[in-house]
Amino acid sequence: MNSGQVYFNVKKYGFCNINPPPDIDIIEDIKRMKKEKNAVILAHFYQNSDIQDIADFVGDSLVLAQMAEKNKADIIIIAGVHFMAETAKILVPDKKVLIPDLNAGCSLANSCPADKFKKFLEAHPYHTVISYVNTTAEIKTLTDIVCTSTNALKIVESLPEDEKIIFAPDRNLGNYIKSKTGRDMLIWDGACHVHEKFSVVRILKIKEKYPEAKIIAHPECEETVLKIADHIGSTSSLLNFTDKDNSKTYIVATESGILHQMKKLNPDKHFIAAPPKDITYSCSNCEYMKLISMKKLWATLKYEQPEIILEKVLINKAIKSIHKMLKISKDLGYNYIK
Ligand code: 13P
Ligand code: SF4
Repeated sequence: MNSGQVYFNVKKYGFCNINPPPDIDIIEDIKRMKKEKNAVILAHFYQNSDIQDIADFVGDSLVLAQMAEKNKADIIIIAGVHFMAETAKILVPDKKVLIPDLNAGCSLANSCPADKFKKFLEAHPYHTVISYVNTTAEIKTLTDIVCTSTNALKIVESLPEDEKIIFAPDRNLGNYIKSKTGRDMLIWDGACHVHEKFSVVRILKIKEKYPEAKIIAHPECEETVLKIADHIGSTSSLLNFTDKDNSKTYIVATESGILHQMKKLNPDKHFIAAPPKDITYSCSNCEYMKLISMKKLWATLKYEQPEIILEKVLINKAIKSIHKMLKISKDLGYNYIK
């Protein structure tokens, strides 16, 4: 297939819907192409287990940004969602940044459209704007400091105590930080549809069955879930907690993909994915994250599509707020890359 056909194909579907030849070993071919093209696969913890296993690196959204900035590959493939690939492209604009499916969006990023956010900022001047990395590049151009769930609390604390803050877009994370710090924070009313789904009643039922289990939760969860949690933190923080803590059973209130790394690190421990309110499901999956498949990953490496393309003006504006986050994170010791 020529590159023009691939381009139209991607334009139509958002991904290369070209299957690998039936006689090849996809995994071996991906490994071969990665080497040949000097490409690196960076995967988020919420990816399917097979994608996590073939990735060169698996991490949370902060670490993926740090890895994108520091690695020496010519091609970066983000096995994650669109805002993660966009962040990578902003950090390394001269590199080819690919995502296996452009439809891999994020409900939280969608809950903060740039035109509405702009108006909100105009109505509330003299605030420092802190935005979660789960936003579009355009929102990042309107932001003073980007944050992730790993560093959000510390970034807010790093500001002078009387600073007026606008925090966007996640209301649950924002309210959690506000309650922890007592800071003057105006919070955008956005949320992640995966983390808002967890059922306190169903979690407590599991806890009745396993009274020794610890409940751990991502701060994007609703306050009612956070209130019953033994530990609250980003994906990395939850993973580290289960590794260092000496309990044997955990009820994990975040996207279920993270359980793969938890089980890998501690195969003798018991991890239960927290159930959502909808009783037809036993755990919560992010359907955007799960759009990335091995076939799409293969096609992305083979045809080097879909590619993230951003205008230079947008990159130059958005990079400032991301750089500020990376600088503060480094100073705070959240520096994965030594
Ligand atoms: P982390 O920053 O913990 O990786 O979370 C990203 C995310 O999308 C949470 O839903
Ligand atoms: Fe976005 Fe929620 Fe999916 Fe994370 S889990 S990528 S916040 S929709």
